[in-house]
Amino acid sequence: MLVNLDDNPHLQLRSLVNRLFTPSRLKANEEFIQAFSDELVREAVANGSVELVRTIATPFVTLVIADLLGIPAEDRQKFMDIIQDAPPPGNLDGELDLNAEDHPFMIMGGYFAQYVADRRANPREDILSELANALYPDGTLPDEMAIVKLGMFMFGAGQDTSAKLLGNAMRYIVDQPGLQDKLRADPKLIPALIEEVLRLEGSTKQTARLARRDTKIGDIPVPAGTKIMLSIAAANRDPARWEDPQAFKLDRPKIREHVAFGRSAHTCAGAPLARVEVRVILEKLLKYTSDIDLDAEIHGPRGARKLNFEPSFIIRGLAELHLKLTPAAGIDLSPSGSSVIQKSAAVSPSPEVPAAPVSASASGYSTAGTKLAVLLGNPGAKAVLDQHFPGITSDKRIGMAKSMTLRAIQKFAPGQFTNEALDAVDRDLAVLPAD
Ligand code: HEM
Repeated sequence: MLVNLDDNPHLQLRSLVNRLFTPSRLKANEEFIQAFSDELVREAVANGSVELVRTIATPFVTLVIADLLGIPAEDRQKFMDIIQDAPPPGNLDGELDLNAEDHPFMIMGGYFAQYVADRRANPREDILSELANALYPDGTLPDEMAIVKLGMFMFGAGQDTSAKLLGNAMRYIVDQPGLQDKLRADPKLIPALIEEVLRLEGSTKQTARLARRDTKIGDIPVPAGTKIMLSIAAANRDPARWEDPQAFKLDRPKIREHVAFGRSAHTCAGAPLARVEVRVILEKLLKYTSDIDLDAEIHGPRGARKLNFEPSFIIRGLAELHLKLTPAAGIDLSPSGSSVIQKSAAVSPSPEVPAAPVSASASGYSTAGTKLAVLLGNPGAKAVLDQHFPGITSDKRIGMAKSMTLRAIQKFAPGQFTNEALDAVDRDLAVLPAD
């Protein structure tokens, strides 16, 4: 992954990320952000209450990254559904197998692999084509998988981080006496609020490094090969750097000098985007309301709040935040135009691939019940795959999907893995001898 690379491999890949964050791309993305957030916030305020993290923040940031990457409109709802229930990075509540076929990144990676292959074969005037065909600064063409992984990394890096920052910011807004009125009176203070929340409760608590050579941190020797966990949250409250570090102060000098977005070569590429996302939603929530409070029935009264933070060693953020919203006097909360998501979904609904029956077989293998890795590990089954789908066993994209069954992969490439073709594979697998 980008964040784990050093030197030239890092610079090469980072140059591709920078292509996404050009001023014109960010401007187009901000237009999307404005329109979509308006829709979400108007609806929430009209309802008088909302659960902010899952109902607004998560779908919002998912679609913003989807828009930035140019994910086709008709697939965006699917991306939102896939990500909605995923636990945050660094989850401490049980294991999430990154190779499991139902892991959100596995599913999204399948779509992304298809987009990249398609845009390389048939380039069009769209962002995905630009990304898929972009060259590294040294003129070489990136491996398809590098682009797929980069796309997935963007979702991983910009998903929970931005969504949780919005929740963390809102908690300060409602619980600091007088703060929301001050921000309503002077919305130009919102950027300072975001910086102070990033310092006090940035959504990334820590990152890690491996020492490449003998060095020192302060007076402590660090031999080459040492793994180091860097506590961003602690650095941002370091009394040697910050005066009165636990206090929330909007007029703090050099308020942007926290390390919530990291520093140096790996500094967060999405920081400008995260700042815009959170600012725009907060501006709208404050503008359309005269009062925002936490739902006391769920979170308890001010001063004795019950808050549920995600059990993650990486992410600092609330699992949910239930708000009561009082509409501002005279504000028109009717929808501002046609729905951004509905408009997307209406473009062309993707065809549903009906589930096919599983054939019984002597080997026990089937396209619905056997993972690709197992099929590839059996010479007979591998030959069957090669016969029906020439080249599949050496296809790099398939390497990403080894923990999936062919029927699960089918939905990413329904034209290639048709029901008829998979039924024929099942018939051949059925006559293979048992292991
Ligand atoms: C509040 C929101 C965010 C926070 C707190 C945050 C935090 C961070 C941190 C601390 C790093 C540095 C990691 C390290 O040095 O080990 C980082 C890197 C990165 N972030 Fe963010 N991030 C946020 C939002 C985003 C968004 C919205 C995107 C993209 C859509 C994004 C994309 C990236 C990328 C691509 C890197 C890797 C840069 C590299 O290795 O060269 N981030 N982020």
